Amino acid sequence: MKATALAHPNIALVKYWGKRDDALILPHQSSLSLTLSPLSVTTTVEFGAASDQVELNGHTAKGSERDRVLRLLELVRAQAKADLGPAKVVSRGDFPMAAGLASSAAGFAALAVAGRAAAGLPSEPRAASILARMGSGSACRSVQGGFCEWQRGERPDGEDSFAVQRFDAAHWPDVRMVVAILDRGEKEVKSRDGMKLTVDTSPYYPAWVKDAEVEVVQVREHIAKRDLQALGELCERNAWRMHATSFAANPPLSYMSPGTLALILHLKEQRKKGIPVWFTLDAGPNPVLLTDAAHEVAAEALARACGAVDVIRCVPGGDAELKAEHLF
Ligand code: PMV
Repeated sequence: MKATALAHPNIALVKYWGKRDDALILPHQSSLSLTLSPLSVTTTVEFGAASDQVELNGHTAKGSERDRVLRLLELVRAQAKADLGPAKVVSRGDFPMAAGLASSAAGFAALAVAGRAAAGLPSEPRAASILARMGSGSACRSVQGGFCEWQRGERPDGEDSFAVQRFDAAHWPDVRMVVAILDRGEKEVKSRDGMKLTVDTSPYYPAWVKDAEVEVVQVREHIAKRDLQALGELCERNAWRMHATSFAANPPLSYMSPGTLALILHLKEQRKKGIPVWFTLDAGPNPVLLTDAAHEVAAEALARACGAVDVIRCVPGGDAELKAEHLF
């Protein structure tokens, strides 16, 4: 009745931006990401507790944060077809939430894997990915390591909308993602609100969906060939396109700060000097730089020169896994 799992966050190279079903968290388009090590979230779930208790990073969770965790465990109970009693959940991440790395992705992936195990359900990436998706969309891509593709699916019940691993972490050990933290503040508009506004009001949204579906196929080919330049160019273009849909929303929405723009424009100059470095950007001001092992130090230095207050260098991460040691 008790299990602990560790999962890594992921960064999308072709982004998920917009839901076709808000309740089930079904996307309009497929997306593809890289799982990031050494960052991780560890979560212990125990059913049969005296009452529901949720502790996240040393604080008792309240309001919607608590509700989202308990709702996911409700789905675990439904999958197990058993009344497992109240649940105690303790979760801890080892990276700053302000990194903008959607800590919710690693958190809900760890919760899904630990929750299923605590309920006695077998380890099954597909079922865990579907469950994690219903906590936070991008979480479905953190159940497995390496490069994972969230296939949008067609079914209204979402049973075919989950992530599959396209390449494991060992496929391209030399690839690096360098998180440049320019701003530690909370983002003003949460990704779920930003994407909803964009879907509802941006005239560019249909073009985004069409392009992203094509880019997911192309990105797979670049990763298969370990072609950093082709991947970098595609990854940047996709990030620009995602943000362009939001610029065109009503009211217009920009996640970029002046510092974001300064850094990402600077990369172009660096590439001219022979440093292979490209960016991607989620729903926040902190770019994540794509490069290789030989240039990660240079990438960190240029991020710091452009005002990064913190930098986290990441390598491809592995699957979410069960741990023998519990948090309580
Ligand atoms: O999973 P959410 O609701 O945090 O949305 C994540 C959206 C982006 O991070 C902007 C893109 C992505 O694919 O991760």
